[in-house]
Amino acid sequence: MVSEQGRVYYITTPIYYPNAEPHLGHAYTTVFADVMARYHRMIGDETFYLTGTDEHGLKLQQAAERAGEHPKDFVDRMAEIYKRYWRMLDISYDRFIRTTDDDHVRVVEHAISEMHRKGLIYKGRYSGWYCVSCEKFYNASEYLMIDGRPYCPIHRKPLEWVEEETYYFKLSEFSDFLEKVLRDYDIVYPRHFAHEVLNKLRESDLLDVSVARPKERVWWGVEVPFDRDFTVYVWFDALLNYLTGAGFLTDGERFRRYWPSAHHVIGKDILWFHTAIWFAMLKALDLPLPRKVLVHSFIINKGLKMGKSAGNVVRIEDLISRYQDSDGVRYILTRIFNLGKDVEVSTSLLDSIYNSELADNLGNLVRRVAVLIRKKSSGEVTSESLEPRLAAKAEETIRKYNELMSSYEVSRAAQAVMDLLREANAYINEVRPWEASDPERALYNLAEVIKVAASLLAPITPKTSQRLSSALGFSISNPSKVNFEGGSLYKVSEAPILFRKVRG
Ligand code: MSP
Repeated sequence: MVSEQGRVYYITTPIYYPNAEPHLGHAYTTVFADVMARYHRMIGDETFYLTGTDEHGLKLQQAAERAGEHPKDFVDRMAEIYKRYWRMLDISYDRFIRTTDDDHVRVVEHAISEMHRKGLIYKGRYSGWYCVSCEKFYNASEYLMIDGRPYCPIHRKPLEWVEEETYYFKLSEFSDFLEKVLRDYDIVYPRHFAHEVLNKLRESDLLDVSVARPKERVWWGVEVPFDRDFTVYVWFDALLNYLTGAGFLTDGERFRRYWPSAHHVIGKDILWFHTAIWFAMLKALDLPLPRKVLVHSFIINKGLKMGKSAGNVVRIEDLISRYQDSDGVRYILTRIFNLGKDVEVSTSLLDSIYNSELADNLGNLVRRVAVLIRKKSSGEVTSESLEPRLAAKAEETIRKYNELMSSYEVSRAAQAVMDLLREANAYINEVRPWEASDPERALYNLAEVIKVAASLLAPITPKTSQRLSSALGFSISNPSKVNFEGGSLYKVSEAPILFRKVRG
């Protein structure tokens, strides 16, 4: 299914806690969303890609305290660090949203007031076990008991007992609604994650959730407009960023156009917030649900989810220098991307993807073809017709690639391009253009395959595709419409060595 002209595609990542620098786990989500955004832009959709930072709450308040800074100075500094990382990885976001942005604060104030006016927010007392790293309460069926004490199942740190006044959101009123949408609507993808939430809903009664903290405990947050002694709970604040990013309250027309096409990319750790709580909040505001919630699994290192608390993070900059450039890292992250399964990232796995696919399969082909065109065909090739076997393979690849990209299967889409390049490598070895007296047609066929591959890879490896287009003299085409016919002229200005192999 290929998008028609004029369609809108709004894609978001979670907004990250900027208490520390981003690591490969954050890059995993951000690169995937970027590949989808770039793909949709290329096929002509009006695309808006939103990412940013989740800057309020106790976790950030404490991180700033530890750093000896005012939280606003701290998050200002950290947001710049995030932006720097995303520049390093060529992330093409359209807006970097911060929950301290004025338009967002207004959305939060509006949303909580609106729900209060509708009788969906009420004052009460709360007690429970809290994890500051997750910014979340855990109940007895969720936390771990270690030496008689409750521990966070994600961070494996002792939970903190909290007993305080609060405001509740009447989540319990939305139980039938949630049951219905999770059962009957095709929003959560892959589907088994919807069943996971449904099971949780059915296991026990849905309880109301606390959506405010007393200011004396958490002062760093959006003030509750109808009771200035409280700040809005950080998750309630953060989820609303998706509305702010689409222009809610600031640009009604844009909001109505963008919102129904919202695609939220999230890790499976924040599934409950993005389905149960978020869907109920939207319903409470009489707003439509997002089009899709795309849930992916974790990258793990040494058996544990990669994260700061597990102390097993892989640094983005280390991989950028190991794999030549941002494109090496973007390609590897795309290839290991998995919606269903956790992926262990070992150096040997990453090296082997890089060496065999980028350095050998793509890199060698390009180098050989470009060198041969310069040596044997005075730097130019053209031909009226194409070798049918390669033409058929290219057409099939384009079709398969578009299908896979529309079903979020970015890894398989990249592999389809690699298959085409393998076929081209087999072809060059068979026809041996370096020995032929008139190799122009064979080289032309190979240049065409490189053009197709460069166009299909452009959302994944944008710099490399750009470099290929200037080295061989073609333009990158819309991947749903790549033209694979005779009659083009390729003028080779450079025979690039795209990716140098790494050794263990
Ligand atoms: N601030 C909240 C999200 C609010 S969204 C309204 C939050 N932030 S976070 O900094 O902890 O980032 C969470 C997201 O980062 C995960 O959902 C996931 O997308 C990504 N990842 C962080 N570590 C990861 C792995 N080890 N593996 C894969 N993704 C990971 O939660």
